[in-house]
Amino acid sequence: MPTAFITGVTGQDGSYLAELLLDKGYRVIGMVRRSSTVNFERIAHVQDRIEFVNADLLDEVSIIEALRETEPDEVYNLAAQSFVQTSFGQPVLTGETTALGVTRMLDAIRIVDPSIRFYQASSSEMFGKVAEVPQRESTPFHPRSPYGVAKVYGHWITVNYRESYGLHASSGILFNHESPRRGLEFVTRKISHAAAKIALGRADELRLGNLDAQRDWGFAGDYVDAMWRMLQQDSPDDYVVCTGESHSVREFVDLAFKRVNLDYDDYVVVDERFFRPAEVDLLIGDSTKAEDVLGWQRRTGFDALVADMVDADIALLEGKLRAIS
Ligand code: NAP
Ligand code: GDD
Repeated sequence: MPTAFITGVTGQDGSYLAELLLDKGYRVIGMVRRSSTVNFERIAHVQDRIEFVNADLLDEVSIIEALRETEPDEVYNLAAQSFVQTSFGQPVLTGETTALGVTRMLDAIRIVDPSIRFYQASSSEMFGKVAEVPQRESTPFHPRSPYGVAKVYGHWITVNYRESYGLHASSGILFNHESPRRGLEFVTRKISHAAAKIALGRADELRLGNLDAQRDWGFAGDYVDAMWRMLQQDSPDDYVVCTGESHSVREFVDLAFKRVNLDYDDYVVVDERFFRPAEVDLLIGDSTKAEDVLGWQRRTGFDALVADMVDADIALLEGKLRAIS
């Protein structure tokens, strides 16, 4: 039974990846940082099958100890300060966690057991002010936020440890992926949750920023399968994972409100507070390499994703779901 070690196991992707690996018969170790309350909402349904170990991306010794104690075969580094807007307000913390945190993970692996296979959660946000359309593995990076800059560092340090120390270290350049478990501050979940609240008469407006931004949105449950496939390859490499379709925030909001038979124009208010100092206007990827080499394919389309998110938020608000899992 192989052992997988997941950082960020309490996050959206960590919860889907833990499910996938448990289903495959892995022993799953979840690395969690200390907090004053338990935040296991997304993994409550599989919590008893995960072994937890305390460590923090900001503290390398804690990571070394956690790896020594649990002896994993594969490490999936999903932990990060992942919200772009927050990275403008907390650029140093974002750099410490999302950039240097990757070095701490890689260094801990190098010290404890260099045969451990490593996955780094890189991001389409690295393409930023895009140099070509669609974006692929060879597209140059031009990040537009402290988060994007930190992810570029994390990406290149992963490549560097692969080249310098021969680590089996791969980087998944994942485009936006969403689910009913998405954090409430990200635009898709903010919209699905607000559409559900408004439909149930518990809110009467939704304040958003740039409605014209375009993203290549997929379903998180489909994307964690690509992470696992990367670590099963003989050689480490970098892969773009995306749908190859782009939609605007306006299209997402329109579809979400239509799902509850409402017109978004009656409820959406554009609010300057949600605009960013620098924006990523358009993301659309080309995942040919992941499809050809990994045999990866996405299963969920855009319309189904929006419908699932709105339906799940209605069920949550009506008390039919205790938590989104
Ligand atoms: P998420 O829901 O925000 O989860 C982030 C996770 O990181 C949480 O479990 C959080 O723990 C943990 N974390 C934050 N700071 C930490 C620290 N100092 N030490 C240990 N753990 C820490 O993010 P996600 O959407 O699942 O994304 C997973 C990864 O993929 C992230 O690296 C993200 O940047 C990257 N990514 C995401 C997307 C996307 O569209 N979702 C696309 C490309 C790349 P707490 O629960 O304790 O806060
Ligand atoms: N969050 C948010 N809130 N975004 C808004 C809003 C709003 O009220 N109104 C418009 N937007 C626009 C943002 O300006 C951005 O262009 C787009 O919606 C998507 O924003 P987010 O959902 O916050 O995601 P993101 O694209 O910035 O970042 C996500 O995807 C990256 C991959 O490209 C995060 O998951 C990152 O961690 C991930 O790396």
